[in-house]
Amino acid sequence: MSKNFYITTPIYYVNDRPHIGHAYTTILADVLSRYFQLGGYSSFFLTGTDEHGQKVQQAAKERGISPQEQVDQYYVRFQELWNQLHIQYNRFIRTTEKNHCKYVQKILQELYDKDEIYQETYTGWYSVGEERFFTQDELVDGKDPISGRPVEWLEEKNYFFRMSKYQKRLQEHLHSHPDFILPAFRRNEVIGFLQKPLKNLCISRPRSRLNWGVPLPFDQNFVTYVWFDALLNYESAVTDQTFPDGSPIAPADCHLIGKDILTTHAVYWPSILAALDRPFPKHIFAHGWWLSGKKKVSKSDINASNPLDYISSYGTDSVRYYLMRDMVQGQDSIFTEESFIRRTNSELANDLGNAVNRVHKFILRYLNGEVPQPSLMNQDDEEMRNLAQDLIQKFYTLFPKFLITSLLEEIISYLRQINRYLEKNAPWKLVPSQSNSKSDQKRLASILYCSCESLRIVLTLLSPVIPEKASKGLTMIGAVPQISTSSLEWGILKGGEELIKGDSLFPRI
Ligand code: MSP
Repeated sequence: MSKNFYITTPIYYVNDRPHIGHAYTTILADVLSRYFQLGGYSSFFLTGTDEHGQKVQQAAKERGISPQEQVDQYYVRFQELWNQLHIQYNRFIRTTEKNHCKYVQKILQELYDKDEIYQETYTGWYSVGEERFFTQDELVDGKDPISGRPVEWLEEKNYFFRMSKYQKRLQEHLHSHPDFILPAFRRNEVIGFLQKPLKNLCISRPRSRLNWGVPLPFDQNFVTYVWFDALLNYESAVTDQTFPDGSPIAPADCHLIGKDILTTHAVYWPSILAALDRPFPKHIFAHGWWLSGKKKVSKSDINASNPLDYISSYGTDSVRYYLMRDMVQGQDSIFTEESFIRRTNSELANDLGNAVNRVHKFILRYLNGEVPQPSLMNQDDEEMRNLAQDLIQKFYTLFPKFLITSLLEEIISYLRQINRYLEKNAPWKLVPSQSNSKSDQKRLASILYCSCESLRIVLTLLSPVIPEKASKGLTMIGAVPQISTSSLEWGILKGGEELIKGDSLFPRI
């Protein structure tokens, strides 16, 4: 089995500043990339910005600047946010990069030469917001069925990709690869979509209407439709790179997307790949939306839209944790400051912070600041070790299925077990004193050793989600932070490791 993992986020439109929805997708990709590394994979993580098309041209026009100025000013905002969120991407692509544009033109020419692209006059309802045509029966109350915005009747010559040819191939692929689209209910949506005849895809826009795009190599009067240009980023960005073992990066193991862009990824993209005789991505994972009340959070939503406010008030790791913990992958979730505070206080400050601080302070005060030598384990200690081993097994089953919320639940449940273990075994009743017997001292050593080992495993498994705090927490219990499978076993601490002094990991809000 290949131990390489290529994960992508959608590339974001640079018509406005990033909001919590964008932050969620990117953090989830980062977390998955780090979990795959922890599970022994080489991971390649691609993100970037989608800089062509009508939305960007319009945003620039409204601000009275050129599209080039618009994209140059806005892509930086995404990069800045990703830095603040500690996103470790391997490559950030901008679709205005020369190499990407050349790549798009090369592919267009290849498809044109193979007669996969042809010209035709087209009439239909056009939505500026969605940048696509709709048929009469696709409209809802005469409006764009996706954005609900007005549509206009347009007649124009355009170039089309023979997508309909690939309907059967897609259906077969969905049938023989049940985990191609995840979660399963999204796969059913695509299967449903493919039950209606698949149309050919309009892949050009006349220059008279839209100038900001990649010119078609075979007809300079047209530019490329923004989605055709954008989807190709998943390949153009990595043509000159390989995994450490020399194998090529593409095709992706996971295209992480929001549910609103499922058709473009699950139908358009594989059809383009089929026409090029290239393999399909392994998985397309569609997550839900962050809602504010009943509405999708969007750029105009001031209440919950600016992740930077949350980072500066509560810290990066709390934001990462909340977003990963509160949205069951695939489902929608409502974003509120109250639920954010509740989650941070109960799981990060109480369950995790308290356990680490208690053990840390105790060892500093009574045990010379060193992890005690492991000694004879009693039944409670053994239970903690067995549960840790179970948890590690669960990690190995859950992360390849991208089930991060379930994994976090398992980790928290074990963490609570550590707290119960500490309560029950009450090391504070065995603090070294003259009246203490030798066996009390041994018992104390064993409890603290087991607590450090259990917490080491918890912090290691949490490190993809809360990298900074997990590293700090690990040093506070005498462990070395490292993302590697070798850290996922009981007994890495040998006793004698020195603790690095630290204060409370997650102060209560
Ligand atoms: N540029 C296209 C993607 C091209 S990929 C080849 C695009 N860009 S976008 O900026 O509009 O949206 C990017 C992603 O952000 C989408 O996956 C979308 O689902 C996600 N989100 C936007 N708002 C969201 C929420 N409120 N909640 C969660 N994610 C949402 O589409």
